[in-house]
Amino acid sequence: MPPHTTRRFRGAADVDSPAPVAVIVLAAGAGTRMKSRTPKVLHEIGGRSLLVHAVTAAEGTSPSELVVVLRHERDLVAEHLAEHASEVSVADQDAVPGTGRAVQCGLEQVSASEGTVLVTYGDVPLLDPATLRELVGAHESAGAAATVLTARVADPTGYGRILRSPDGSEVLGIVEHKDATEAQRGIDEINSGIYAFDLAVLRDALARIGTDNAQGEMYLTDVLSIARTDGRSVHALVTDDVMMVEGVNDRVQLAQLGAEMNRRTLERHMRAGVTIVDPSTTWIDAEVSIGQDATILPGVQLLGATDIGEQALVGPDSTLRDTEVAEGAEVVRSHTVLAVIGAHASVGPFSYLRPGTDLGAKGKIGGFVETKNATIGEDAKVPHLSYVGDAEIGEGTNIGAATIFANYDGVEKHRTTVGRHVRVGSDNVLVAPVTIGDGAATGAGTTVRKDVPAGALAVSAVSQRNMEGWTLRRRAGTAAEAAARAALGSSDRSAADAPATPVADEHKEHEQR
Ligand code: UD1
Ligand code: CA
Repeated sequence: MPPHTTRRFRGAADVDSPAPVAVIVLAAGAGTRMKSRTPKVLHEIGGRSLLVHAVTAAEGTSPSELVVVLRHERDLVAEHLAEHASEVSVADQDAVPGTGRAVQCGLEQVSASEGTVLVTYGDVPLLDPATLRELVGAHESAGAAATVLTARVADPTGYGRILRSPDGSEVLGIVEHKDATEAQRGIDEINSGIYAFDLAVLRDALARIGTDNAQGEMYLTDVLSIARTDGRSVHALVTDDVMMVEGVNDRVQLAQLGAEMNRRTLERHMRAGVTIVDPSTTWIDAEVSIGQDATILPGVQLLGATDIGEQALVGPDSTLRDTEVAEGAEVVRSHTVLAVIGAHASVGPFSYLRPGTDLGAKGKIGGFVETKNATIGEDAKVPHLSYVGDAEIGEGTNIGAATIFANYDGVEKHRTTVGRHVRVGSDNVLVAPVTIGDGAATGAGTTVRKDVPAGALAVSAVSQRNMEGWTLRRRAGTAAEAAARAALGSSDRSAADAPATPVADEHKEHEQR
């Protein structure tokens, strides 16, 4: 076989290969085996839809035009494309079924009249741009009318089979499984459905294909035999990366290709200098970026547009979505969404950072803390058991354990501002809107309802009074009474009869000024 028909590669980038004039991505099929209300191509792996994966690979070849062919759930899919890939154009397939008709409808959106056109599928998510560029390069250097990407598989059932010339050097055509003879079904080289075509040949041949086959469809594959009949050459590029050309038809394949994509993503990061302690329990979306010497511990999911800085540590058992973790920061056993974590800051264990959390450099969000819309300054700390919502906390400030930022009055949300180097005591409730000035402090158990000036100490808790013997009088017959009696000495009957300590002055003592 000549080299261009047998070349084995694994996504090797060929930067010199020319760009196609257009890519047509087929996505009109119904995808009934997904058994889903969601169109098949909108199902996700690696944090984006199958279709956006396909479009991203197509974009990687720098085509002049990129067309996606739709029919099933057309409006939903078009809306998704407008949101995630606004530069593509949409073509509508009419009622005539088949991949040939789909490409014909797609070509109506293509203005070029010559050059190389790529055809790919919207449900093949692992295909990469390097392979597509390789296909264009092989196709153009052979001067072929069509070049099909093929693979040899253990079970070719259902696929179109590649018919080769007796010496194997040329492709004669493709026969669909349903139309194949027993002998043809024995062929293990399959059509991936991904091709490079000479645009003029493609337009001409599509105008000549019919629906005279087992499925009554316009087969794109018929273009190959028509081109050959016209005396043009047809080639194949064989890939040994079978997963890369595999499509998703049901949810079992969705999970399999999702796992494979994840495996490839992890491998890419590890080769770039990221430590991933347990790849089998780590999930990283396609768009995530991770700096060198970061460490990802077991049980971590990095999702969406998450960005992990150099030498950061994430895990174990953490989920970060659309979160920025700066260099040297640590996130331990926590859940974060749309949060920013500053350099050398620390989060967790067991904390929940909601959208709008912005933790400054060397800051700390400790254990069992929930934050939302909160800017926490450099070196500021919220170490234990707190809720911080709609807040601004200045640098170097410490928020005592079990403090609540009461931001919601039942109707509206309000903001709380805490200045620099403030010491908020334990178990405070800061009732928004309220401001605590720089260098101020609050006592334990304070409910802050009024602004606290800079440098002031605010206290609001009532003074403690002890009603001696209360348990003996009011909890007679309980274990508590028995314990109290034992502690007080059984002869001490007087405690039970003692009156409560007078407390008339307590409010005076704590009146706020
Ligand atoms: C097709 C190929 C087959 C190949 C297989 C690889 C033809 C005739 N057969 O099979 O040789 O081995 O892909 O998976 O081309 N689509 C449309 N409009 C349609 C029909 C399909 O846009 O009218 C799209 C689907 O959304 C899908 C792709 O084309 O993305 C393939 O369709 P599918 O029905 O899965 O493939 P087959 O036709 O069975
Ligand atoms: Ca298919």
